[in-house]
Amino acid sequence: MTPMTTTPDKNPAPRTDSPVLHATGVTMRFGGLTAVHAVDLTVAHHEIVGLIGPNGAGKTTFFNCLTGLYIPTEGTVTYKGTVLPPKPHLVTEAGIARTFQNIRLFANMTVLENVLVGRHTRTEEGLFSALLRGPKFHRAEKASTQRAMELLHFTGLTPKADHLARNLPYGEQRKLEIARALASEPGLLLLDEPTAGMNPQETRATQTLVRAIRDQGIAVLVIEHDMRFIFNLCDRVAVLVQGEKLTEGTAETVQADERVIAAYLGTPFEGAPGQDEIAEVEAAEADARTEDNR
Ligand SMILES: Nc1ncnc2c1ncn2[C@@H]1O[C@H](COP(=O)(O)OP(=O)(O)OP(=O)(O)O)[C@@H](O)[C@H]1O
Ligand SMILES: [Mg+2]
Repeated sequence: MTPMTTTPDKNPAPRTDSPVLHATGVTMRFGGLTAVHAVDLTVAHHEIVGLIGPNGAGKTTFFNCLTGLYIPTEGTVTYKGTVLPPKPHLVTEAGIARTFQNIRLFANMTVLENVLVGRHTRTEEGLFSALLRGPKFHRAEKASTQRAMELLHFTGLTPKADHLARNLPYGEQRKLEIARALASEPGLLLLDEPTAGMNPQETRATQTLVRAIRDQGIAVLVIEHDMRFIFNLCDRVAVLVQGEKLTEGTAETVQADERVIAAYLGTPFEGAPGQDEIAEVEAAEADARTEDNR
């Protein structure tokens, strides 16, 4: 993979002593449902952090709180020491990029055009100018195209540059989402199930790609259900269960935590697995033996 060149950052110099992401007490309620409850999470420079948890645990909702799609009911989110504005485009401009669980591409635009749209926060022209290809767009186009082509090379999509996004196989659409996210020159990349629908070979390639992204100085927070992918890749893993952070630690610590296994199997975490049920079964067996001995 060719190294990515850095483009000038419009934002003030980040405070390098602060973590890249610092979420404190993030809570998101939808009416009576608390989807995310008092979650603290930090992502440091050069870190790949995994966020796992059963379906409906609140992982995507948490991402939405980080990226300004939702305004958390409680809590704060800072990026490199600055509180994030609660608007998605301002969050992107600040330096956080994301991909979506349900792929969101411009289906009838080419692969290259999709990446160019991703650059609009880092160029002078606005999104609509980019989409409508106004005069300002043409001026900035050359430099942007060069950068977009670099990103296509980095993600292995160069041969598909002129293809319509909708004609790409699923795995390549996911890669294109990553290329588009990188086009905003983020300092933190949030990936929501980047390997969903991929075959094992594509999943391994994505693992390599995420490492290469981190090696370019971009911190990564990744949601995934594929445990092998998560435990191979992540420096640290946080586990969300029913909206709360159950635990966090290295892959080894999290894998060895019985509460995590219990959460995935849907059994209670505390009070040893089903004490009442065990007692009930033992009583029934004792009764059956008594019956047999009569
Ligand atoms: N906009 C919304 N309005 C109401 N409830 C919502 C909304 N978004 C999410 N929820 C609920 O919040 C809970 C958490 O959902 P979320 O999508 O964050 O889970 P998840 O951990 O990403 O699950 P999965 O692994 O299936 O993607 C679920 O009960 C969901 O139904
Ligand atoms: Mg989700």
